[in-house]
Amino acid sequence: MIGLDTPDDAGVYKINSETALIQTLDFLTPVTNSPYEFGQIAAANSLSDVYAMGGKPITVMNIVCFPSCDMDEEVLSLTLKGALDKIDESGATLVGGHSVEDDEFKFGLSVTGLVHPKKVLTNTGALNGDIIILTKPVGTGVTATAIKAKIADKKTVKAAVNCMATLNMIAAKIMSEFRVNACTDVTGFGLAGHLLEMAKGSKKSIILRSEQVPILKNARSFAQMGMVPAGAYKNRKFFEKNSEISQGLDRSDVDLMFDPQTSGGLLISIDKKDAYRCTAKLVEQGVQASIVGEISGENPLGSLHII
Ligand code: CO
Ligand code: CO
Ligand code: CO
Repeated sequence: MIGLDTPDDAGVYKINSETALIQTLDFLTPVTNSPYEFGQIAAANSLSDVYAMGGKPITVMNIVCFPSCDMDEEVLSLTLKGALDKIDESGATLVGGHSVEDDEFKFGLSVTGLVHPKKVLTNTGALNGDIIILTKPVGTGVTATAIKAKIADKKTVKAAVNCMATLNMIAAKIMSEFRVNACTDVTGFGLAGHLLEMAKGSKKSIILRSEQVPILKNARSFAQMGMVPAGAYKNRKFFEKNSEISQGLDRSDVDLMFDPQTSGGLLISIDKKDAYRCTAKLVEQGVQASIVGEISGENPLGSLHII
């Protein structure tokens, strides 16, 4: 059903009229100094692509690249422990994996999920008049840059880690109760990049209201200090052609819209009549959800207007 011809979150293969298989694979280099937290984050990031397709993860496998000469074995066992805790939380089962020797530590999961073939959520189904909901704040790339520069305090680091380690499971469950037309998750392309992918796939123009986008604690001041990862500029350069950025927007606010995210939130295009009820329910259940924009019209090439 979904393969190489569309840039979606995962591949989807229909087995019969009731069941389709979702398959995805993601791995990362460490994003925190704590191996346990890194394991949690890498797992949440990998599992997210199944949630973004409207599915439930059932089995996972570990992917490990580990420099066993330079790194203590405990780093690996804590990472696996962090991942396993998140896998357990998701209800999926760890069934295997593979590890190789490598110069740089990398870890992630290959995830298999299930979905009803009629309930697959792609990033190409957004409809005119839909409202866009985002289920996590942005700014993890900027915060990671500030952590590397040693200017982020403990509380700020904790907030970013908690955000990245949070599964998109509850958000996905709540979303499934409403009329959702398209969904993806926010990762390396940043909020603006993934929205533009949705706009292109759905042949629509989308308005992103930057002042409504929730930002991680202190990420705005880090961005103002220039703690912006190279990926944010790359994203902006790559997606600029099809996006319009309103005059007068603060430069650092625009940088945050393009900030590459690790384990970001779901980006949901939902029927206008359901948008406010869905957002309220998400917030009630502890999800940091906000309405951040809307589908504003047809556009065969897809476009994004950041205001
Ligand atoms: Co994704
Ligand atoms: Co993906
Ligand atoms: Co992915």
